[in-house]
Amino acid sequence: MKFGIKTLDDFQLENKTVFCRVDINSALKKDRSGLADISRLKGCAPTIKELAERKAKTVLLAHQGGDLEYHNYYSTEYHAAELSRLLGWEVKFIDDVCGPFARDCIKQLRPREILLLDNVRYMAEEMTLFETKLNLPPEEQAKTLVVRKLAPLGDLYVCDAFAAAHRAQPTLIGFPEVLPSAMGRLFEREYSILSQIMSAPERPCLFVLGGAKIQDAFLMMSSVLRAGTADRILTGGLVANIMFLAQGVAIGKASTEYIKAQNLWDYVEIAANILARHADKVELPVDLAYSAGGERQEAGLDNLPGDHLITD
Ligand code: 3PG
Repeated sequence: MKFGIKTLDDFQLENKTVFCRVDINSALKKDRSGLADISRLKGCAPTIKELAERKAKTVLLAHQGGDLEYHNYYSTEYHAAELSRLLGWEVKFIDDVCGPFARDCIKQLRPREILLLDNVRYMAEEMTLFETKLNLPPEEQAKTLVVRKLAPLGDLYVCDAFAAAHRAQPTLIGFPEVLPSAMGRLFEREYSILSQIMSAPERPCLFVLGGAKIQDAFLMMSSVLRAGTADRILTGGLVANIMFLAQGVAIGKASTEYIKAQNLWDYVEIAANILARHADKVELPVDLAYSAGGERQEAGLDNLPGDHLITD
């Protein structure tokens, strides 16, 4: 038990069927011929390896893409192949999540075998409960099809998907209602490092906030600035674009229209308020990457050529 949560140390795993929720959501190659980055697979490999070494029958649940990353919405087939390579151990893939075929495969698993189910976001409930922000409580999420069909086949639920753990979705909060549960090794590591940063950070404490998940980034920024946790924040990606607009810096019609089209215009005012209060702590980029003819190009902020979509 760590931080009041059970870990793999609290369970006997031999011959047990373990549902392990991982976050291996990865960028795909442009032509969708494979994964462009396997860092997340490397991150959860120690947990999967430990489950296999301790003779569990491991069933991996994972999502790939979704409403925020529709261009990456895809099966988890590539992930199984990459995980097999990384672990030096076969990770089987089936294109089913909780139908009769998936349930048969799970029942036939032997100790040490690892099975990766298809993208859990192919299940309507996993997507709709998230998309519509219904925020159903865990006991209601436990009534969803995926939990009702799979949980009876399992002995333990392990969550190693720290990066997705803020999502109220059946595969994240439904299973622990009906199965004994634990956090995986990656979850344990991330939780412990973040707890340390949030309670007693080493100084100076610098946060790098970028990407396209604006709501998460601004929530985090406001929270760590308010609490005095962050000495400095480096912004990038869409977060920086919004900051530029808040400062009145011209970032071009393409990027401005993009922010409007994504319904993110309200964040310009939020960014202006943050800058008014914490201008000395928030850094904006001095150079940017933009997309020209589908290719990444880089330039300084003062010599951005023409009107291109700023992507980084
Ligand atoms: C991520 O990539 O941030 C996590 O996998 C969560 O994905 P989501 O933002 O699509 O829920």
